[in-house]
Formats: sequence, C-alpha cells, structure tokens
Amino acid sequence: MKGKVAVVTGAAKGIGKAIARKFAEAGAHTVILDFDQNNGEETAAEFSRDYSESLFIKTDVSDPESLRKASDQVLAYFKRVDILVINAGISYLHSIDEISIEEWQRVLRINLDGSFYTLKAFCDHFVDNVGKVIFITSGSAITGTGGGMHYASSKAGQHGLMRAASKEFGPRGINVNAIAPRVIQTDILDTLYPDDASREELLKKIPLRRIGQPEDIANLALFLASPESSYIHGQIMLADGGRTY
Ligand SMILES: NC(=O)c1ccc[n+]([C@@H]2O[C@H](COP(=O)([O-])OP(=O)(O)OC[C@H]3O[C@@H](n4cnc5c(N)ncnc54)[C@H](O)[C@@H]3O)[C@@H](O)[C@H]2O)c1
Repeated sequence: MKGKVAVVTGAAKGIGKAIARKFAEAGAHTVILDFDQNNGEETAAEFSRDYSESLFIKTDVSDPESLRKASDQVLAYFKRVDILVINAGISYLHSIDEISIEEWQRVLRINLDGSFYTLKAFCDHFVDNVGKVIFITSGSAITGTGGGMHYASSKAGQHGLMRAASKEFGPRGINVNAIAPRVIQTDILDTLYPDDASREELLKKIPLRRIGQPEDIANLALFLASPESSYIHGQIMLADGGRTY
C-alpha cells in the first residue's frame, strides 16, 4: 500500500481507527475524518510518528459542506484517493416508544445520509482507474437486532446504497463492498451490552465464543482494499463469529 491514500470516516477510535492503523502499517497515507477532534488529532499524530504521514480533518459526515471541504483538503494535500472507508456511525438500543423523531432523523442522517454524502464528496478523486470503497454496515440490516429500528433501517439503507454504487462504479474500475460486523469490542458495544450478565448471554449466541475485535474487521478491510480482492464486488461480508448463519 506504499504511496496509496486511504480515507476513513469515524477513524478517531473503534473500528475506523483499527482499519486506518492496518492500512498505515501496510504503508498507506491515512486521512482520519471524524468530528472528535481530540482523538482524531491524537490518532493522526500517532500514525504519522509510527507509520506514514496521516492527516486529521475535523468533519461531520452528516454535513455535506463539511465533507466537501474535507475532500478539497485531501485532494490539495495528497492529490489522490485510493481507498475510501465509510465507517462513521452511531447506534442506540431503543424501542419505538423511546425513539423520538429527532433521534430517528439523527441516526439516519449520520449513518445513511452521511454514507451518501461521503461517497459523493470523494468518488471523483480516485485515479488510475483503480479504487476501493468499503462500507462498514451491520448485521442489524439483516437481523433487525443490535440497535433500534432507526439503526437497522440506516444499515439496510447502506446496503442498498452500496449495491447501487457497485453498479455505477464497477465500470470505472472501483470495487465497492460492505463489511457487516455484528458484535465488535468498541464503545458502541459497551452502550449496547453494559453488564457482565448481558455479555454472557451474548457469548452463548456466538459459535466462536468470543466477541469480535476491531482488528478482525480491519483484517478484512485490508483484504478488500488490496489487489487480491479485485474480483470481489457488490458484496456484503458478515464478520460475526458465525452468529448469523
Ligand atoms: N461495534 C460494533 O459492535 C459494531 C457492530 C456492527 C456495526 N458497527 C458499525 O461500525 C462502525 C464503527 O463503529 P464503532 O463500533 O467503531 O463505533 P465508535 O463509537 O467506537 O466509533 C465511531 C466513530 O465515528 C465517529 N462519528 C460519529 N458520528 C460522526 C459524524 N457525524 N461525523 C464524523 N464522525 C462521526 C465518532 O466520533 C467515533 O470516532 C459504525 O458504522 C457502526 O454502526 C459496529
């Protein structure tokens, strides 16, 4: 990945950070887009020190203007984009009576609208007729569990977006795929399963009997970002320890 430029949204922590680190270890320049300034700056500084140059740009993926500015900045700085990971997302485990209209709109705006805005802001920056777009979606889109109705709907929407994007971008030499995690050890998981009892119950449902780590998703992202996966296109890859099927 030497010389390649990888843009990852929501990379200040969690799965996005693990993916960006994996790319940085492989030699890529990374762009950390996140609205968490402290963790974002720290991440970019760490990657620049330990691997290759990394840029943090404070960005709100629910704001198209913020993304447009970020994409202009990336183009001015690195002159190209090779890999785009659409990862930023939020989740609430709420039932219908707990979901206000504002909360519904917030989840859809960040998870689904934000995915489209990100794609639209960066899709013309791929060069050399090769590119990789990876959506981080969720098994929730398939099972309806692990978040509220807003979360599952936003993630199912991402799958439609990914499939439509694969039809449009395939002829341009850009691979588009989705990784659908289920339970991965990050802050989102701590909100969804806050105590030991709920964790124990959860483990019983996972045939591999462990909660996934951000690196499990990063390893798959590295493969999907590499030339070795060049004939994999328009796919949703569950990374769930065997829990779903
Ligand atoms: N952790 C899991 O179990 C799990 C399971 C399935 C899918 N996912 C998906 O993986 C992705 C990453 O989740 P995570 O577990 O690493 O979460 P996380 O909360 O650890 O990290 C999410 C990151 O996204 C950023 N972010 C949120 N809203 C943003 C916005 N509007 N603009 C810019 N940045 C924003 C946050 O600041 C944070 O850095 C999400 O799309 C999530 O839905 C996670």
